[in-house]
Amino acid sequence: MIKSLKLKNFRNFETKDFIFDEEKNFIIWDNWVWKTNILESICLIYQKNLINKDISNLVNKNENYAFIEIENDNQKFSISYDKNTNTKNLLINWKKTTKKKFEEMLEKIIIFKPMDMNMMYLSPSYRRDFIDDILSNSFPSYERINKNYKNIIRNRNKLLKSIKDGKATKNDIKFWDGELIKNACLIYEYRNKLNNFFIDNINIIKELLTLKNDSIIYKYVTKVDLNSIELSISNYLTKNIDRDIIIWNTHIGPHIDDFEIQIDSFPLVNYASRWETKSVIIWLKILESRFIEKHTNKKTIFIIDDLFSEIDKNHEILLLNEIKDKQTFITSISSQNDHRFWDNIINL
Ligand SMILES: Nc1ncnc2c1ncn2[C@@H]1O[C@H](COP(=O)(O)OP(=O)(O)OP(=O)(O)O)[C@@H](O)[C@H]1O
Ligand SMILES: [Mg+2]
Repeated sequence: MIKSLKLKNFRNFETKDFIFDEEKNFIIWDNWVWKTNILESICLIYQKNLINKDISNLVNKNENYAFIEIENDNQKFSISYDKNTNTKNLLINWKKTTKKKFEEMLEKIIIFKPMDMNMMYLSPSYRRDFIDDILSNSFPSYERINKNYKNIIRNRNKLLKSIKDGKATKNDIKFWDGELIKNACLIYEYRNKLNNFFIDNINIIKELLTLKNDSIIYKYVTKVDLNSIELSISNYLTKNIDRDIIIWNTHIGPHIDDFEIQIDSFPLVNYASRWETKSVIIWLKILESRFIEKHTNKKTIFIIDDLFSEIDKNHEILLLNEIKDKQTFITSISSQNDHRFWDNIINL
């Protein structure tokens, strides 16, 4: 668990220390205070992004360097960042270390943020990122395998363009087809584990939400025959080589797959209310934490930014109940909810 957080020159903080509770930590204040900033500093230690991609924005605008430190059960994890030299140092107990060591030694975090509520409505890349993120957090080698696969696709597409421009021949593509198939098989090995987990557990959403509907199904959407991966990709690539050359793009494989949730055989987005869709996303995140815990033996910590503005009281209680044994950080706007049943409110 995260015992404490120390911030120096991080965004609008000059110096600030927080002590946390082992269960629920409610960060409640008005708009534009620094609620999300606190969560973002925690996410940064856990090498995750809450909102910001450019780390230099995280340094207080009047300062040149920032320092963030959390203490968990036995160690101190810190990041120092110098805006002038653009150098970032990771430290464990004030000794320089690597991103890999951070990841190995820290717990896992599950992030809920308002933007996640669009996951089902936006492009498949959001849903693929959701899947890839869970797998990277569950299996140490997945991130590398996925990066490698994306590189292969980039190289294959580059070669397709060269063939189109007359600088290479169709024969040259065979090497990249072989690499694509080999690496796609590795990715599907992991994606199948997650798919089977979702298929087996998706019914919990129905039970927990007491949905009136008959069935809820998780469906992985792919052009690949998952019972015959090599053959189906190979046949597709051979059949579509001329089209691929014209648009120098590869149209089969894990990089274009998607998933769909169906309620009573209808795709969720066409059928469910906005509220039902949000609920499904919340429960997918809970399944995410269960999957990660199962495969890593690590605890998950929940980071919930402003989510309660999106959900009603009953579901708020359901959600809090479901994650009652986890350390949780929750931001909320002070006027929004009746907080009588919340304890451990962090006083800003
Ligand atoms: N680099 C920076 N230097 C100084 N202040 C900053 C910096 N970056 C952001 N801020 C300030 O941080 C504040 C925003 O904090 P944050 O996003 O945590 O607010 P919030 O409490 O989550 O608000 P809301 O309820 O609207 O989500 C803003 O007032 C902004 O001016
Ligand atoms: Mg906020």
